[in-house]
Amino acid sequence: MTDSSSSAEPTPIVILTTPRLVLRATTDADIAVMHERVFGDADVMRNVFLGDVMTKERAQGFMREHFTFGANRTGIAILTEKPNGNVIGFAGLFPCTAPYADDLEIGFVMAKEAWGKGYATEIGAAQLAMGFEELGCQRLLGLVEPRNAASIHALTKLGMRYLKDVTSTTRPPRSVYIMSADEWRNRPLSRAARE
Ligand SMILES: CC(C)(COP(=O)(O)OP(=O)(O)OC[C@H]1O[C@@H](n2cnc3c(N)ncnc32)[C@H](O)[C@@H]1OP(=O)(O)O)[C@@H](O)C(=O)NCCC(=O)NCCS
Repeated sequence: MTDSSSSAEPTPIVILTTPRLVLRATTDADIAVMHERVFGDADVMRNVFLGDVMTKERAQGFMREHFTFGANRTGIAILTEKPNGNVIGFAGLFPCTAPYADDLEIGFVMAKEAWGKGYATEIGAAQLAMGFEELGCQRLLGLVEPRNAASIHALTKLGMRYLKDVTSTTRPPRSVYIMSADEWRNRPLSRAARE
């Protein structure tokens, strides 16, 4: 993968950093890269949103509506690898209205070449820390396609537990995983949490 940063655009704000990853706000230059590596890849999109690939135009509309381009630290953002900023997908704490009315959910969606390196667990732990320790959330959710074993495994490794399955008008059925602020405070210290 190549560095997609553009000198013509202002430097996007950094939302989270982990030992190997940076989650940052979106830039215009990310749209084409994200379509090529994520939104246009059927293997990546199988268990994401409506479960199908997006055209470049649809991906652009979706990103402009749902991704954070400015100073917000919540919202869907661009996940990059250190040290050179390769764009590998998206993650972020974003609003979630199921099964309750008003929550934040964590999420991670990565290009195929970034799978199997422990990145989902690494950025997931950082999202939980941000939600509980910086934003003061009382609970955080993770919504997953019920057959998405890798994602479920990452959520449970993070200490989230299965709550229930939900259906909504805007998304296919999802299994909801949850962690409360008490569970976060009482979690066994993981290697990721100590780093
Ligand atoms: C799902 C996804 C986020 C996982 O990312 P990842 O960085 O490869 O995940 P991690 O390496 O942190 O952890 C995955 C764990 O699941 C395990 N796993 C992988 N495939 C599995 C499978 N089919 N069944 C069970 N466990 C599986 C891995 O071995 C790993 O566990 P381990 O660390 O104990 O060995 C990534 O594959 C992806 O982006 N997929 C496409 C988009 C997507 O589905 N996103 C999730 C939406 S909820």
